[in-house]
Amino acid sequence: MTATVRTRVAIIGAGPAGLLLSHLLAGAGIESIVIDQRSREEIETTIRAGILEEGTVEVLSSSGASDRVLTVGNRHEGIELRFSGEGHRIDFAALVGRGVYLYPQHEALKDLISARLAAGQDLRFGVTAQRVEGAETDRPTVFATGAEGQPLAIEAEFVVGADGSRSVARAAVTGASTGGYFREYPFAWFGILCEAPPSSDELIYSNSENGFALISQRSPTVQRMYFQCDPETDPSVYSEAQLWDELQKRVPGTTLHEGRIFQRDVLRFRSFVAHELLRGRVALIGDAAHTVPPTGAKGMNLAVADVLVLEKALRALLLEDDSRPLEAFPEKALHRIWKAQHFSWWMTSMLHVAPDASNFDRRRQLGELRSVVESEAGRTFLAEAYTGWPLEGLQ
Ligand code: PHB
Repeated sequence: MTATVRTRVAIIGAGPAGLLLSHLLAGAGIESIVIDQRSREEIETTIRAGILEEGTVEVLSSSGASDRVLTVGNRHEGIELRFSGEGHRIDFAALVGRGVYLYPQHEALKDLISARLAAGQDLRFGVTAQRVEGAETDRPTVFATGAEGQPLAIEAEFVVGADGSRSVARAAVTGASTGGYFREYPFAWFGILCEAPPSSDELIYSNSENGFALISQRSPTVQRMYFQCDPETDPSVYSEAQLWDELQKRVPGTTLHEGRIFQRDVLRFRSFVAHELLRGRVALIGDAAHTVPPTGAKGMNLAVADVLVLEKALRALLLEDDSRPLEAFPEKALHRIWKAQHFSWWMTSMLHVAPDASNFDRRRQLGELRSVVESEAGRTFLAEAYTGWPLEGLQ
């Protein structure tokens, strides 16, 4: 027997996009149900990136979704671009009057989950969406299976696929689970977490003869670092000494503070944008709609930007019976998505060394990096994109 529940908005996926959307909808008096196939613990402990645009932080804090982002998060007013053994600071505050916050995504998820549960949100973990039907009716339905395999149908006035890069909802929107614009990269990131003091006050994005490295942070005692590797790399093959050697080789001119490495993973890169973001009464947001390589730190920020546009459209649809903002949602969201796709691709291609790079390619790349750091216009372009373009409803 299939249990049927009814709600106004059915949201698949309890990541940043799905949870923030349910939070904002609740603030407008619109009820929703959020399901996720993962357990709460898995969502709260999976290591993801850590940079939030100032606008993202403002949304999280002013909507009451997270206070900790301001108290635990660390504001950064610049980054360092390092190449040919020299560092060049991109001074965000001076160039664009904005900054970013280092606040790991899983911390933001803990805040969002506890805020939603405290508000009585119907949030169900361990519930796997199987398919979405009826996109072009006014009763779209999510068919799912509960933690013990029991079938569940969620009938809604609107369905949102916020279910990540392997989205189940996508098929109902694009007609195919993979329908989208797609690009792969011939490298990946080897990520580590280690027990050590910070090696630098700000993030270092380093291009070297040996490939790219990113020196990021987590806390005064825990650091996050990445280095460019082959996508097929098995993370267990390196000893700790080899990992330090690989990292150190990619940041010539900086001495890293080493310490025990307690977590390692290989992150594959891809750029993807779904062919459609909306069909009838089903929309895609966050990684279900697009993925970006992590070099521009745009993933979660782009999800938040989608949410702001869709939330406003759903308020108009469900409270005022006005479908015009919803019809404008794809174009509006895609405007930012493709700018972020470009920025993420640009940072990636400018900083990594492709395995088949020729001597010409390598010299041209250094010319590109110099063009950026030696020009105020170049630095400003990077600073505007990295700190984030203006968000819907925020100044
Ligand atoms: C991170 O700290 O995990 C991080 C920071 C910046 C990026 C990507 C990842 O561009």
